[in-house]
Amino acid sequence: KSSARTAYVCGECGAEYSKWQGQCGECGAWNTLSQVVLEPAGAPAGPGASRRSGWAGKVDPPKVTALKDVSQTAEVRVSTGIGELDRVLGGGLVEGAVVLVGGDPGIGKSTLLLQALASMAAQLPALYVTGEESLAQVAGRAVRLDLPLDNLQALAETGVESILQHASQARPKLIVADSVQTLWTESLTAAPGSVSQVRESAARLVRYAKETGTAVFLVGHVTKEGGIAGPRVLEHMVDAVLYFEGESGSRFRVLRAFKNRFGAVNELGVFAMGDKGLKEVPNPSAIFLSGSSQQPGSCVMVTREGTRPLLVEVQALVDSSPLSNPRRVAVGLEQNRLAMLLAVLHRHGGVVVGDQDVFVNVVGGIRVQETAADLPVLLAVLSSLRDRPLADKTVAFGEVGLSGEIRPVPNGEERLREAATHGFRRAIVPKANVPRAVRHKDLEVIAVERLADALEYA
Ligand code: TYD
Ligand code: MG
Repeated sequence: KSSARTAYVCGECGAEYSKWQGQCGECGAWNTLSQVVLEPAGAPAGPGASRRSGWAGKVDPPKVTALKDVSQTAEVRVSTGIGELDRVLGGGLVEGAVVLVGGDPGIGKSTLLLQALASMAAQLPALYVTGEESLAQVAGRAVRLDLPLDNLQALAETGVESILQHASQARPKLIVADSVQTLWTESLTAAPGSVSQVRESAARLVRYAKETGTAVFLVGHVTKEGGIAGPRVLEHMVDAVLYFEGESGSRFRVLRAFKNRFGAVNELGVFAMGDKGLKEVPNPSAIFLSGSSQQPGSCVMVTREGTRPLLVEVQALVDSSPLSNPRRVAVGLEQNRLAMLLAVLHRHGGVVVGDQDVFVNVVGGIRVQETAADLPVLLAVLSSLRDRPLADKTVAFGEVGLSGEIRPVPNGEERLREAATHGFRRAIVPKANVPRAVRHKDLEVIAVERLADALEYA
C-alpha cells in the first residue's frame, strides 16, 4: 500500500493518537488534535530514525559492536559567548546539536539568539533565518544592540527547501531558524504553522543538522490558540529544549533546560532585559528575594535547580474564604503539591486551613519544581495564617512526606553555604541535611525531623 500513514497529534503537547478524539488524553486540552501525515516507511523522521537508512542515505546491514570498540569522538563544544546560555546548554553549544528555544511571544527569544549568533559568528560561519521579521528589522535590532555586523549573514525565507539549498552552498556551521512556526515544506499541502508543517519542517532541519554537523537553533513560540502548533510537538526530535520564562512586567528572564542530551536538565540561566538586549545575571540569588525585611507570609528557600543553588522567596496569603470550596492557587509551584501539603499541615500539624483561601507565589516569575520547596511553603502559609513573620534572616528547605516527616534533599551543604554567603542567620533544614563537619559561622542550623517540630520552632 502506498497511501501515506497518518496520525493525530496534539498541537499543545505533541501526544500522538491513531484515532481522532475531542480531548487530548495527555494534557487534557480540547480540540487540539489534528491529522498529520507520517512519512512513508523508510524515510527518516528524526535523528533516531535516520540511523535506519544510514546517515548518507544508503542502507547499512545491521551490525552489533562491543561498546568498548566504538571510537569515542569527544563532543565539540563552542562557547556562545553568553555564559548563562553556555551553562544551560551544558557548557557550550555542541556541534551538530539541534536546540529548541521556546517561550511566549515577546519574551526575548530573537534577541538572545541574535546576540549569541553575533558572538559566535566571529569563530563560525553562521546564518540567521528569519520568517517573522524583515531583514531590515533584524539588521536594525542588531545595530541597536551594538552587535558586530560583519560576520552576520541573514536570510529572509520560510521555505525549508530554499533554506537548505542555500545552506548546502554557503555551509554555515550554525543556523538559527526564527521561528519554526513560519517554516513550510513543499512536500506537504498543509498550512504553515499546522502541526504537520511544523513537525516536518523541523524534521528536515534536524536531518540536515545531523548529516552536516551543523548546529541549529529552532525558535518556537508558545501558542495560546489551537490552530498553530506549539513547540512541545517538537520536543522529542531535538537534542535540547530550552524554555524562556519570566513574569510579565519583570525585566528578569529565566532560561531553563527542559531536556538536554548534553547537560543537566532544569539548569537555569538568568538574564535581565535592558535597552541593550539581554544581560547575564551571574549571581542570581539576590534577585529572587523581595529585599524588604521579613513580612508575615514570606519564607526564603534555597532551591537547587540544575547544578546551582538559588535563594528564592516564597510568599503565601491565607485569608478566610467566602466560598464553600476555598481556593488554592499556586503560582510558580505545582497546584497539586500545594493541596497535598495543606492536607499534611492539617493532619500532622493540626493547622486548619479548610475554610481559608490559600494563595502561594514564588517571587520573580521563577518556577520551582523541587520538593525542597515543601517546608518553606508550609512555613509561609503558617506565617500568613498567624500573621506573624518568621525570624529575620531565616531560610528553609526540605521535603515534607505524607506522614508528616521532614525528608532530606540533595546537596544540603551547598545550599547552606549559599545561605551563609548571602548573610542568612538561621536555616530550618531536615535533620539528615545537617552537616557533620562543616560549620558556617553566623549561620545557626536548626534540624527538624517532623513537621510538628518545624511548626513549633517557627
Ligand atoms: P524578542 O526577542 O523580539 O522576543 P521574541 O522573539 O521572544 O518574540 O523581544 C521582544 C521584546 O524585548 C520587546 O517587547 C522589546 C524588548 N526588548 C528590549 O527591552 N530591549 C532590547 O534591546 C530588545 C532588542 C528588545
Ligand atoms: Mg522573535
